[in-house]
Amino acid sequence: MNITDIIDKKLKNCVLSYAEIKKMVMDYVDGTINDEDMTSFLKAIVKCGMTYEETSDLTKVMLESGKQIDLSCITGIKVDKHSTGGVGDKTTLVLLPLVASCGVKVAKMSGRSLGYTGGTIDKLESIPGFKVDMDQDSFIKQVNDIGLALVSQSGNLVPADKKIYALRDVTNTVSSIPLIASSIMSKKLASGADKIVLDVKVGRGALLEKIEDAKTLAQYMVHIGKSHGKETVCVLSNMNEPLGFAIGNMVEVEESISALKDEGPSDLKELVLTLGSIMVSLGLNIDGQKAYDMCVVNLKNGSAYAKFEEFVKAQNGTLNLINDSKKFSVKAHKTGYITYIDTLKLGELVRHLGAGRVNIDDVVDSRVGFILSKKVGDFVLKDEELLKVYLTSKDCLIRDLLDCFKIENDVCDKEKLILDIIK
Ligand code: URA
Repeated sequence: MNITDIIDKKLKNCVLSYAEIKKMVMDYVDGTINDEDMTSFLKAIVKCGMTYEETSDLTKVMLESGKQIDLSCITGIKVDKHSTGGVGDKTTLVLLPLVASCGVKVAKMSGRSLGYTGGTIDKLESIPGFKVDMDQDSFIKQVNDIGLALVSQSGNLVPADKKIYALRDVTNTVSSIPLIASSIMSKKLASGADKIVLDVKVGRGALLEKIEDAKTLAQYMVHIGKSHGKETVCVLSNMNEPLGFAIGNMVEVEESISALKDEGPSDLKELVLTLGSIMVSLGLNIDGQKAYDMCVVNLKNGSAYAKFEEFVKAQNGTLNLINDSKKFSVKAHKTGYITYIDTLKLGELVRHLGAGRVNIDDVVDSRVGFILSKKVGDFVLKDEELLKVYLTSKDCLIRDLLDCFKIENDVCDKEKLILDIIK
């Protein structure tokens, strides 16, 4: 098998065999294939796509490039959750304690922020003392003891994805649906859960802006899950505006705590209950409505928050959040309805202020963040607060923040949050 022939075959829109895909990926991982040839291969995939079978094969090859986590010592059905990334997306912080309080075991590996999208590990690290690393035995023991553990994704999990993703990032080959699907699913399958629930974000603050593309991605991921014997459900959720009001690490933890006390924003609650009812239904093998009712009860009666406290304590954290940043308000320049929020730009602004990384070795400042006072569809008076800004070492221009909001005279309806469920 010659690599030029394999690239040409893909460029002629022919279907690649498992052996051909394996050769390309594994030779790249061990350095036999250089970045230039791999880039040609990735560009051929971007141009010509991949069938479901090829994408499943690519996922299998990547999955087998590293160590897979064995969760068989944990009793019960383990359900994992993943988000394709958004702005203000603190869902995991609320969802996991909630489903664990319902009796579903959750053994989760999460990532750090990527570009303008936040990461659960960075958010949890704003809790003083919170440990995000644990050896495998302690991880499994904690899931068996309290039903929930969450650690930082190890570099050994799917090394092929790590190397290929880094190349995709700098060669403009991130946006291919088969490449995204195999990248996400290889990591989910390697994490060892029995069932997988995916929150596929759609809109201005998401990887995919169009609903048709998000549906296609979901269909690919459901197919990959099934072909590996793991039931997979995708919820397509709206990311045309940030989720909830808070954007930034510590402010998002604070908002999550409110949501766990059933006092949080309504959109966050709706998404948590949608994903939670699916996870509980899959994990306990019960009907969706019964699972939904359990989630509602456990948010109301304090069980979800109690599980969160237990989880934070088990990972050495203390819920003593101190935000000594400078705070100021940004006020509306006119009266009207908020018709548009530039979610991507807000994500980029907060990232550049220190809530995310611009360079690989940047240290995240957990205190930096925004809290929106208004969302799309809300009415605002001139000089009323649009958002509160939490700053530390860097400054930002009020003009840049104001530019993220469109205020118009006509009433604007709130958009639907849950756009589809694909299984
Ligand atoms: N997230 C991933 O893990 N992989 C992708 O390709 C895109 C988003």
